[in-house]
Amino acid sequence: MPDPLTTPAAELPVRRLGPEDLDRCLALSEDRAWAREERKWLFLLENAEVYAIDAPSGELAGTVTLTRYGTAAAGIGMMLVATRYGGRGLGRRLMTHVLDAAGDATVFLWATEAGRPLYEKLGFETLGVTEARVGRLRAGDDPVLSRPADLGADLGADLDALLALDGEVFGADRAGLLARVFAFAEEVRVAEDETGLTGYAVSWRSMDTLFIGPVVAGDEAVARALVTDLARNADGLVRIEVERARPGLLDWLGDRGVSPAFSTSFMVHGGRPLPGDRTRMFAPLMIAMG
Ligand SMILES: CC(C)(COP(=O)(O)OP(=O)(O)OC[C@H]1O[C@@H](n2cnc3c(N)ncnc32)[C@H](O)[C@@H]1OP(=O)(O)O)[C@@H](O)C(=O)NCCC(=O)NCCS
Repeated sequence: MPDPLTTPAAELPVRRLGPEDLDRCLALSEDRAWAREERKWLFLLENAEVYAIDAPSGELAGTVTLTRYGTAAAGIGMMLVATRYGGRGLGRRLMTHVLDAAGDATVFLWATEAGRPLYEKLGFETLGVTEARVGRLRAGDDPVLSRPADLGADLGADLDALLALDGEVFGADRAGLLARVFAFAEEVRVAEDETGLTGYAVSWRSMDTLFIGPVVAGDEAVARALVTDLARNADGLVRIEVERARPGLLDWLGDRGVSPAFSTSFMVHGGRPLPGDRTRMFAPLMIAMG
């Protein structure tokens, strides 16, 4: 196996990983002081394309994930290069690999400050900043304004309306992925008015935290209601990713005890517009996927 310390990065083979590589992914996360998010990594290994460069030790020298949404859009995440292999072009090699694989799709990602210079060199443009918010959300005696989704596959159930709403807002095909998300989820809730479904949101667990996302809603009041209702079952910390361009929602989260943990830059390759109607997308599923 080529040694990344002595082989030019452009010549290093890039391998597609599978669930059997879970422990290697967790070890690489730990090397960069990222949390051991076992459940999230497994979900990515099973539902996204995870690519890596191997190290001679049997460990991974670097990883990156690509989530395709049909041919229209693709999300990149989990860009990690082990500390001892940093600064040798492995990050560039992995990014170039997934950009090639993504073809004509509009490619987006959420960048840490460590990753942003590399992505800028490769043609990504920053469109905004996203805050990861973490805390125990105080629901108090708020009324319950959403209900659990009925995700039965029979025609006419919530599933059809929910997928139609998501298709309008996300603008690229993720019906297959959402089916897997619903199976992985803690709870899926919908909000509705006399016209039908006005929003939906999902909660899922990773480590001791209840993640809330995606949150799709007709307006901010609906988004708040969905978040509040999902957080009632948190039994601990909740986490949600919200753009800085939504100060109302961020202030409300702050008032409820959900504070800034870190921020990332939302970047799109070539600065291309994203499909769909993002004004109704209040939170992504996870920043590794979109
Ligand atoms: C970000 C990271 C993946 C970069 O990997 P890497 O293998 O060290 O990057 P490369 O050696 O391929 O660098 C690629 C280019 O970006 C530049 N670059 C990389 N990091 C940089 C930084 N912090 N500041 C300025 N330039 C930087 C390099 O100079 C290089 O330029 P060149 O190709 O024109 O010579 C790695 O530092 C890492 O894993 N960091 C911790 C985890 C993280 O934050 N990941 C990003 C998640 S969005």
